[in-house]
Amino acid sequence: MHKIGFVGCGNMGRAMLSGVLSAGLCEPGDVVVSARTQKTLDAVHAEFGVDVASSNAEAAKAEMVILAVKPQMYESVIAEVAPTLSSEAIVVSIAPGKTLSWLSEKTGAKKIVRLMPNTPAAIGCGMTSVAYGDGLDEADQARVMAFVQSFGEGEVLSEHLFDAATAVAGCSPAYVYMFIEAMADAGVAEGLPRASAYRMAAAAVAGSARMVLETGQHPAALKDAVCSPAGTTIEGLRVLEEKGMRSAVIEGLLATVEKAKRL
Ligand SMILES: NC(=O)c1ccc[n+]([C@@H]2O[C@H](COP(=O)([O-])OP(=O)(O)OC[C@H]3O[C@@H](n4cnc5c(N)ncnc54)[C@H](OP(=O)(O)O)[C@@H]3O)[C@@H](O)[C@H]2O)c1
Repeated sequence: MHKIGFVGCGNMGRAMLSGVLSAGLCEPGDVVVSARTQKTLDAVHAEFGVDVASSNAEAAKAEMVILAVKPQMYESVIAEVAPTLSSEAIVVSIAPGKTLSWLSEKTGAKKIVRLMPNTPAAIGCGMTSVAYGDGLDEADQARVMAFVQSFGEGEVLSEHLFDAATAVAGCSPAYVYMFIEAMADAGVAEGLPRASAYRMAAAAVAGSARMVLETGQHPAALKDAVCSPAGTTIEGLRVLEEKGMRSAVIEGLLATVEKAKRL
């Protein structure tokens, strides 16, 4: 029996798969993948050397089954896989909006967990929220956490906070990439070569994030330390506030939360 089955293997499935294999949590032969198209199956097999399944039901015979399709596909895909799930299988949902109780009703599975990962999982830098269903014992929870930590950090949350976690960690990499792109565009406008601009902007974001995580200082204190009196940074900050950057970020994330609630 395969240890892990991915039902669907697009952007998020591949990111998790890449992290799991790089960390050595299991061998490629321990993983089986299904997808909608043969093209994806061929590409995933060529890149990772994992087994490919001829159907979703076949991938769902694994010990841990990751439902890595879009939320809109969940109901039909679950109808396909539910009959072949083993009674001891751990069913993992990574979709926003699909609650543990909904998943339990649709899959009939005893052991269900919700994860909200993000794509930096691909390089072992994921941030994944975890909500365990009632059917998981301590050993099951440890297995899930080992899986999650193979591609980054895990944070156990009460399920009612999952929509917030979806915005703050699941979707936010897209907004951070947008910020990096915008900063680089400004650099290019002032003559920086494009490649240098992306590298410099990304390194500044990565370094700033590590400062927050590693110093434990409040983000506002770290910001104040960059803003010299009558200096250049405070001028930029003044304009960013005027343009509503802070509010734009908050409202953007709250729109994400609202969408997650409607799924
Ligand atoms: N992307 C993120 O950053 C992110 C973050 C957190 C959570 N998520 C969640 O992760 C899940 C997957 O998102 P994604 O971004 O990876 O989507 P995606 O890139 O569109 O990948 C979806 C995968 O599902 C497969 N698929 C579609 N219909 C299928 C079917 N009927 N049977 C089997 N496989 C099917 C697709 O196969 P083909 O490739 O053959 O079309 C593809 O491999 C979603 O629930 C999403 O909300 C995503």
